[in-house]
Amino acid sequence: MFEDFDIYIDKRDLKRIKDKDLFETVEEVFDTRTVLTLYTLMRKKIIKRMNGVISAGKESRVYLAYSYSDEPLAVKIYLTSTAVFRKGILKYIMGDPRFQGFKPSDTRKLIYMWTRKEFRNMKRMYDADVKVPKPIAFLNNVLVMEFLGEDNKRYPLLIEVYNELELEDLHRIYSLVLEELVKIVCRARLVHGDLSEYNIMVRPGIDIAIIDVSQAVDLEHPNFYDFLIRDIRNINRFFRYEVGLDSVLDEETVLERIKPCLVKRKEG
Ligand SMILES: Nc1ncnc2c1ncn2[C@@H]1O[C@H](COP(=O)(O)OP(=O)(O)O)[C@@H](O)[C@H]1O
Ligand SMILES: [Mg+2]
Repeated sequence: MFEDFDIYIDKRDLKRIKDKDLFETVEEVFDTRTVLTLYTLMRKKIIKRMNGVISAGKESRVYLAYSYSDEPLAVKIYLTSTAVFRKGILKYIMGDPRFQGFKPSDTRKLIYMWTRKEFRNMKRMYDADVKVPKPIAFLNNVLVMEFLGEDNKRYPLLIEVYNELELEDLHRIYSLVLEELVKIVCRARLVHGDLSEYNIMVRPGIDIAIIDVSQAVDLEHPNFYDFLIRDIRNINRFFRYEVGLDSVLDEETVLERIKPCLVKRKEG
């Protein structure tokens, strides 16, 4: 929806923003540029107001916010000050044909690119009917998406609830996860790359949602297969050893389901 751009800071604007609630919510954590990015998203009527923090990670923070039609939103803001981040994400960008010719010189630009990558990955998955939040907009280091939760409370992550669930539900969740894993590869032509109990939400009625798709890579990425195997192993390890499910398929059986789509890729 938006291209990256540098924000021109007008002193009068800055003063006006400083009077707003927005500044109070995010001021201590973010630099002026990030606050202005949020302000721009508000001016463009994507975000009406920012609410409390949902999650504070090393590399990003996620906030609850509201749209102009009062729909809850999740706003993921990447921290532009994390230097370790840089090294970690380069391997996902270099080698992906979508980022050919990219020279990683400026950390801030790299993070803007990372944000755009997450938006595009999410969009590709969403368009392929993968159960991810609906991507809404991105600008610089800010990604706006559908909020997954009820009454301002996000749905729990699989890691947070599996202990309280019936074995029958866990079996269903395992099948649903495999379904999404196959869809991500066969329909979205991507691999998630960080699929685990920490990036799967459990919806009531028993359904799931997959989140955190920034590191997903294209089928053409040279490490595509390694990431795919790693995702399968992570999921299987969790369900077999943490959950104790005896219906976990072996790696080969899961791969058999995916292989037909990988063959098509070589022909086409
Ligand atoms: N669309 C969303 N709706 C509700 N909560 C979300 C949403 N996206 C992320 N979260 C919450 O924010 C946390 C961090 O988001 P995530 O994308 O996994 O980033 P990271 O793990 O890199 O910090 C998630 O574990 C979840 O609790
Ligand atoms: Mg995560």
